[in-house]
Amino acid sequence: MTMKTRCDRTVAWGRLQAHYDAGGRDFDLRQAFAADPQRFGAFSQSAPHLFADLSKNLIDAKTEELLLALAQEAGLEAHRDAMFAGAHINATEDRAVLHTLLRSPASAPAPEQLAGALADVHATLAAMLAYAEAVRADHTITDVVNIGIGGSDLGPQMAVRALDQFVAPGKRFHFVSNVDGHELARVLRDLAPEHTLFLVASKTFTTAETMANAQSAKRWFEQSGSVDIARHFAALTTNVEAARAFGIETTFGFWDWVGGRYSLWSAIGLPIALAIGADGFRRLLAGAHAMDEHFRTAPLAQNLPVRLGLLDVWYRNFHRFASRSIAPYHSALQRLPAYLQQLEMESNGKRVDAGGQALPFGTSPVLWGEPGTNGQHAYFQMLHQGTDVIPLEFIAVRDAAHELEGHHPKLLANALAQAQALMVGQRDEGGHRNFPGNRPSSFFVFDQLAPEALGAFLALYEHRVFTSGALWGINSFDQWGVELGKVLARDIEPRLASGDTQGLDASTAGLLARLR
Ligand code: F6P
Repeated sequence: MTMKTRCDRTVAWGRLQAHYDAGGRDFDLRQAFAADPQRFGAFSQSAPHLFADLSKNLIDAKTEELLLALAQEAGLEAHRDAMFAGAHINATEDRAVLHTLLRSPASAPAPEQLAGALADVHATLAAMLAYAEAVRADHTITDVVNIGIGGSDLGPQMAVRALDQFVAPGKRFHFVSNVDGHELARVLRDLAPEHTLFLVASKTFTTAETMANAQSAKRWFEQSGSVDIARHFAALTTNVEAARAFGIETTFGFWDWVGGRYSLWSAIGLPIALAIGADGFRRLLAGAHAMDEHFRTAPLAQNLPVRLGLLDVWYRNFHRFASRSIAPYHSALQRLPAYLQQLEMESNGKRVDAGGQALPFGTSPVLWGEPGTNGQHAYFQMLHQGTDVIPLEFIAVRDAAHELEGHHPKLLANALAQAQALMVGQRDEGGHRNFPGNRPSSFFVFDQLAPEALGAFLALYEHRVFTSGALWGINSFDQWGVELGKVLARDIEPRLASGDTQGLDASTAGLLARLR
């Protein structure tokens, strides 16, 4: 394990608190822009495949300097290097954290101890992409159904939707995650077994929802008289044995050092490869790899994931903002907020440090959002005039992938105008029309919503979450918080049939009786 110092035990932490108390709390963006004509340049930067403007955030040069000192003192770089080297930084599960290896080119210089793993990654990738191309060429398969939940659903679903303009016509993609049978039943209603490929995506191959959906899909397939499971079912899992026991012969594996929410780069990404092809998938990986290299090698002061992760700490622990909103100004990024929710909240939603000690400060904020301009007509009221300050994250794409006249400039104008309105506000003595302004936002720009740009952006977020998690001293790579509910559901399920409420609290017992 690498030595890292929890952020609140550093000298820089105290200096940041002093800086906050001495004026950081009352920082005014309008004054900052008026005072410094170079502010945009100083707080914006290019990174692989994207541009980020952080200048509308409540920071000045001094804040960044202190935050960078915090990162150094806390040992962020050593921790980052340990991850890339394959150290078991996921200590509670005694695992390495190597999703970056999944996008490392075969020829990239890998640490000696990872050479074997990198060779395995490329052998599996080649097999999976060859399979994807074969299925793409098979016009009898018209529908692909991904059965998986959490990381085995959100990443592929988000990416297939996001890269819609690159999806070859002729195949429809469906994503079934919920154990609620309404979801699977609705998808099955329109399918013909002989034209359908089911992908059972589960790292563990034990997740209750996925197993229930996979069983029902298999039953539906067999009840139609179809027998060729090998052709119509494939499994994406680290537990190839369980998939075989389930009756699936076509399997693509990955490894325990890939966390579920970090797994779209692995075999879990097969729906993406089916949708955009082997070249497209390799472009996605290349974009992520470029961001990995940026994170690994750029000096901290110009390291975009580091700057963002530090900003997150500043907002969460000093300003005490408890929430952050994502506003992708592109309808194809519809599932991005849900994806980022899992990435950040499952990774950093922890209340103890890596040693199990309770933390005296806040960790993961609540992440949420909707594509713009829809959000503007729903909850933006609160963002402009509500009592809480909620930093916003705009994502805009310069080039549209459609020819409809006038739409794209309107969309972009709205993104710019919202960020501007949040910052500048509007004075009105009457009260109701008063906008306080000084509400912070970050603004990301892609030239096109291409596979490389998406890959780079997702890797940027992964490393940003790594940065804040490392400073907080937590293990960002386990998720024990999801286990208790799973255990209790297993106890309650038979009680719904039997009506036995013995040992249950009165509320659960009363509700159970209602639901029977
Ligand atoms: O319950 C949470 C979780 O373990 C996530 O971390 C994971 O992405 C999801 O369930 C699905 O797990 P699996 O891929 O093993 O089915």
